[in-house]
Amino acid sequence: MSRKLGLTAASAALALTLAACGGEGAGSGGGGGGGGSEEELSIGVSMPTQTSERWIADGEAVQEQLEAEGYEVDLQYAGDDIPTQSQQVDQMITQGADALIIAAIDGTALSGQLQAAADAGIPVISYDRLIRDTENVDFYVSFDNFKVGVAQGNALLTGLGIANDDAPDGTATGPFNIELFAGSLDDNNAFFFFDGAMSVLQPKIDDGTLVVKSGQTTIEQAATLRWQQETAQKRMEDLLTSSYNDGTRVDGVLSPYDGLSRGIITALQNAGYGSAAQPISVVTGQDAEIASVKLIKDGVQSSTIFKDTRLLAEQAVIAAQAFLEGEEPEANDTETYDNGVKVIPSYLLPVVTVFSDDIEKELVETEYWTAEEVEAGQSD
Ligand code: GAL
Repeated sequence: MSRKLGLTAASAALALTLAACGGEGAGSGGGGGGGGSEEELSIGVSMPTQTSERWIADGEAVQEQLEAEGYEVDLQYAGDDIPTQSQQVDQMITQGADALIIAAIDGTALSGQLQAAADAGIPVISYDRLIRDTENVDFYVSFDNFKVGVAQGNALLTGLGIANDDAPDGTATGPFNIELFAGSLDDNNAFFFFDGAMSVLQPKIDDGTLVVKSGQTTIEQAATLRWQQETAQKRMEDLLTSSYNDGTRVDGVLSPYDGLSRGIITALQNAGYGSAAQPISVVTGQDAEIASVKLIKDGVQSSTIFKDTRLLAEQAVIAAQAFLEGEEPEANDTETYDNGVKVIPSYLLPVVTVFSDDIEKELVETEYWTAEEVEAGQSD
């Protein structure tokens, strides 16, 4: 309610200012001009990092779609540095953003900024990663993150030939050695991915089909700070040294994100995996990053989970627009995402598992990547 009042007040103030400007500036050739463009609203878009192509695509998609709707956009990337992101959001607020769309690096680190946003009547949309421990988040757009984890668990089983909900005709019985990787513990999504995957894998660990030879089965042990590829590579190297130098092999690796998958694959290849005698382990992923899509096509990475960032951007834009028109955006989930203070109304999108046979239909025909990009393993 206060947000709506705030917006109304802001619009009134803006109208007054514009009227004043129009009066004074009429003869000075300033920006006035009498057209409708004076009312252009501006939206701050804060993205975590450019080291992952996924966030570059997200930022571009949000910017393009907002601009197409006539909004001014201030898009900033924070280089995975928390103080930088805080500063960028602060600046968006002081520069008069009318709404904020934020994909947080650390989901708990922006409380001060968001209080300032609330005080200024600026609606805040949490983008893909839930912002936690504050009441000053108005809406959440994401994918069904628990289902992402379930899909990753199933994809690991499918890759190993074990029957599961997505591939009921598997006949392999194991036992197979696997290792588990998780994302960054300051990202709420990491828990949903891991819990979803373990809901599928734990019963198979319990019945002996799967063996986590390192014994590292908690999310804390499996975590990868800031989702860093190098960190995952190093941990995989350590696991190979500590648990697999007795002639046994690691048959599968649960990886929650393509960047980590590539680090894991590099470690495996450096240890001699990827030959006829020692085939590469089954490695899962997420985001359909182009370098990983190429690896999947080449039979190196087993699978990824495709989340269409264009659709996510679209939902963020729809939500921002609703707030700016004084409405509440439509949620399709009002139960799952408790941020520690309140349940945030959410719009969750579905996800698609991609093995090599699915690349053409899911990624090329949908124009997410061109056939040439898949061939080259990089975007144009
Ligand atoms: C998560 C996101 C994943 C992946 C990961 C690393 O928050 O949901 O899709 O991109 O960050 O960037």
